[in-house]
Amino acid sequence: MSYRITINSSNHIFNVETGETVLQAALREGFSLPYGCRNGACGTCKGKIIQGKVNFGSHNVDTLTEVEKQAGMALFCCAVPLTDLVIECREISVVKDIKIRKLPCRVQKMEQVASDVMVIYLKLPANERLQFLAGQYIDILMKDGEHRSYSLANAPHDDEFLQLHVRNYPGGVFAEHVFSNMKEKDILRLEGPLGTFFLREDSDKPIIFVASGTGFAPVKSILEHAFYVSNKRGTSRKMVLYWGVRTKADLYLAELVENWQKEYENFFFVPVLSEALPTDTWQGRTGFVHQSVLRDFDSLSGYQVYACGTPVMVEAARKDFIGLRCLPEDEFFSDAFTASRSEAK
Ligand code: FES
Repeated sequence: MSYRITINSSNHIFNVETGETVLQAALREGFSLPYGCRNGACGTCKGKIIQGKVNFGSHNVDTLTEVEKQAGMALFCCAVPLTDLVIECREISVVKDIKIRKLPCRVQKMEQVASDVMVIYLKLPANERLQFLAGQYIDILMKDGEHRSYSLANAPHDDEFLQLHVRNYPGGVFAEHVFSNMKEKDILRLEGPLGTFFLREDSDKPIIFVASGTGFAPVKSILEHAFYVSNKRGTSRKMVLYWGVRTKADLYLAELVENWQKEYENFFFVPVLSEALPTDTWQGRTGFVHQSVLRDFDSLSGYQVYACGTPVMVEAARKDFIGLRCLPEDEFFSDAFTASRSEAK
């Protein structure tokens, strides 16, 4: 049996299946309600039930007291609806709504996907989840007090493991550690989520993504989130990804992206090589990635652009898209590899 939940302030509506908690259903349907532990301990998901009844579920008695229950409060990570509900809670759409946390994590799996790119999967402690917006990054905290920043490449709904794309970088302390010494089961510490590079979901403008190298990682997170949400809500913003790398081998997850293109009519992929090898037998686009966008669009006045990669690419894209193609300044979103993030991309 399914029940209907209405969020009072936004009038957003979603369905809860038998046995699901309010939070599980909201996340499944692509609505970002705040959460932390997801097991009734932290109180982050606490909200009010304005109409209807729930089974409050098993939770820490200090996190939700009897007095609070009688006042209509519930922990949405534990509360299972027994009727249709009208609830009051915050919905997350801006970065300041999400608490930045420091957490330990374990290296669950490492996959080398190109000669200089390792995908690592991090597992948080059993009772922890990291809430974030698609496109944000985390800092890996190093023993010497330094940190290295990496974009999260998994979508927020797919958070059993946090996925990072680590490029080996001469002199990059963490990257070299990943490629030479790191082993599965190693323990790391992270802080996050961080950054303001995330999908603006209050717009239905078509999107152009421009990524260079492992700048693909946050774009992957955003695209997987957008596909997920559009499947749930029946929306379909047009999206095109221009991914610029040096050689064909650097398109380290090309097959995944090509499969998206087959599966989603609203998505189109343009790979661009800057130093194609004769052995690549490349028939596709060549040159600088942002120039491919300039070639394809006379005007960007009705678009949003999300650019992630080297500062030189991001700056050239910003300058030329705004100056030459009338992209509104506030529709350009970027995450450049600044010096402190130089290992990240
Ligand atoms: S998310 Fe921690 S109590 Fe619900």
